[in-house]
Amino acid sequence: ATTRYEAETSPAVCAGAIESNWAGYSGSGFCNGDNGTGGYAQFTVTAPAAGTATLKVRFANGTTAARTANIVVNGTTAGTASFEGTGAWNTWATKTLTVPLRSGSNTVRLAPTTSGGLPNIDYLDVETGDSNPQPTG
Ligand code: GCU
Ligand code: CA
Repeated sequence: ATTRYEAETSPAVCAGAIESNWAGYSGSGFCNGDNGTGGYAQFTVTAPAAGTATLKVRFANGTTAARTANIVVNGTTAGTASFEGTGAWNTWATKTLTVPLRSGSNTVRLAPTTSGGLPNIDYLDVETGDSNPQPTG
């Protein structure tokens, strides 16, 4: 199952400002993180069982330089991501990542690693395995 977590919706945390001045976002806005390594976006996501989850981060980067981030799951860096320029701040793209989640509640923080900070972050889609898979066919 896939669940969408909007960056502007609590308990998500935007170390920056929730804004809506660039069109094309989902929900009511996006996270414009502070431009610096402190400008994170954090989501609280639920998994039905421990295992690998597929994350899709929707973002816009109107600069020509990629913006990089650590993917910090429950306080531990689980991977990195590079958010390339999308051509304009109102042009959104999706970056797919895989991370380990534990059963129940998890925090997933996009923690920027350069002075540019994050791209603007729209949402996180989380696809988890089924906790009780049933045979089909
Ligand atoms: C511009 C843009 C913001 C973006 C920022 C940035 O100010 O309007 O939406 O977050 O650049 O460089 O991060
Ligand atoms: Ca910003």
